[in-house]
Amino acid sequence: MIEESKVIDETRQGEATMTKTVVPNGRKLLLESYGCAMNFSDSEIIASIMGEAGFTTTTDPYEADVVMMNTCSIRDNAEQKIRHRLVHFKGLKKKKRNLVVGILGCMAERLREQLLDEEKLVDLVVGPDAYRDLPNLIEQVDSGQKAVNVLLSREETYADISPIRLDSNGVTAFISIMRGCDNMCSFCVVPFTRGRERSRNPHSIVQEANELFEQGYREVTLLGQNVDSYKWNMNSKGEITNPEEKTANFAELLSMVAEVNPDLRVRFSTSHPKDMGDDVLHAIANYENVCDYVHLPVQSGHSDVLKRMNRGYTREWYLDRIAAIRRINPECAISTDFIAGFCGETDEEHEATISLMNEVQYEMAYNFKYSERPRTLAERKYEDDVPEEVKAKRLTEIIDLQKKHSAGRSKKMLGKVQRVLIEGVSKRSDDHYFGRNSQNMVVIIPKENNAQGSYVQVKITDCTVTTLIGHVVESNKSEL
Ligand code: SAH
Ligand code: SF4
Ligand code: F3S
Repeated sequence: MIEESKVIDETRQGEATMTKTVVPNGRKLLLESYGCAMNFSDSEIIASIMGEAGFTTTTDPYEADVVMMNTCSIRDNAEQKIRHRLVHFKGLKKKKRNLVVGILGCMAERLREQLLDEEKLVDLVVGPDAYRDLPNLIEQVDSGQKAVNVLLSREETYADISPIRLDSNGVTAFISIMRGCDNMCSFCVVPFTRGRERSRNPHSIVQEANELFEQGYREVTLLGQNVDSYKWNMNSKGEITNPEEKTANFAELLSMVAEVNPDLRVRFSTSHPKDMGDDVLHAIANYENVCDYVHLPVQSGHSDVLKRMNRGYTREWYLDRIAAIRRINPECAISTDFIAGFCGETDEEHEATISLMNEVQYEMAYNFKYSERPRTLAERKYEDDVPEEVKAKRLTEIIDLQKKHSAGRSKKMLGKVQRVLIEGVSKRSDDHYFGRNSQNMVVIIPKENNAQGSYVQVKITDCTVTTLIGHVVESNKSEL
């Protein structure tokens, strides 16, 4: 018997609400996501498109009729992990003849037909801008053909698609505000896998934030590869493209989302040092619900390395941006990304990264060994000449120093009272909740009679390197 389920399709603000009927087709989709937050956010778009086409989701590979892997190409080890998984599914296909295996996302865009032709690992290859075409492509596979769509777009933002929240805690959600990247950092594959930068209509972003708040969500993270270059109704020179419509830059968008409700926390990622202006920092200062947290990847502390990386700023420029954050938002936490052992990196250049770390004292850092990526500027222009063991040694040095700084930062919170949004049950103990303070630090509290999705005032009594531990001193569930 065919079961019918009703899906409420909220159309644009102010227009009538339509009710669409989706007829399940009896087929189950397993969707696995790898890589950055943008990919996880894209998977929610994919789930929505596939849901409209009648698929229901499963987490059990043996139950699945279609497997889709939303993949990442950022470093070679990210791709190797996915290859192993694809080989596993190839094995499963021998037992389940009708199983359709699809590769989506950045690795699909990078390798294109190669995965179909040479390696025969998949039936379906779909790039990040072609997800609307998924139901057609599945039909193509059903009729015995292999299916590929890796066309990149200059316009696609999936603005009208209501994402289906996957693995959701019902409290925090991602909102994609732009796609692609125009920066061409010399080490980075993203401009090749995600295409040109384009911004999403701010009204659809605000609408999505509103809907999330009404559903009980209390935190949104606005996502883009370089959120500071968000611009609506302006071209790259800053000229207005449609005189009839309002323009918006990132600081303005941030304010618009902050005004949805004072109880909706707003975070954003990733900021770019060359583009992050004081207007964004003032928006953080002006709105209590815009979190005191900036992720500002530096990559290296030496201006010559930054030049080879084509990052568009110097060490001095970066430190000026750090000073601006501290001046305008003294409470703001700052995190970063480092690449150890980029092409030609000398001991002296590495030492400059260490000295920058000591100067900034980040709350947190994501650290990587340089991994050469095909087609990038660095691959064409420079030699990947830092030996593996030197890369590893430099990386360890960065990690160890960061641990010290993170521990110092955590200790400074002892005795303070922090406003915490409770996100869920602690992974380590069923009797405890975990949440975050405005600075994005994880805080553990006893469950008692607190509730997921509420704000509480927590006195910090203990800490580990990256986690704060405390107890509730006073609940304030509605106002900031
Ligand atoms: N758009 C963001 C970063 C996106 S990729 C920005 O510009 O900061 C996330 C991080 O992966 C980067 O900040 C960088 O530190 C790391 N990364 C990117 N390409 C890499 C490569 N080829 N090898 C090692 N790390 C890399
Ligand atoms: Fe890659 Fe640079 Fe774009 Fe970030 S800004 S995605 S590192 S090219
Ligand atoms: Fe990876 Fe693509 Fe994100 S390469 S980091 S999934 S944009």
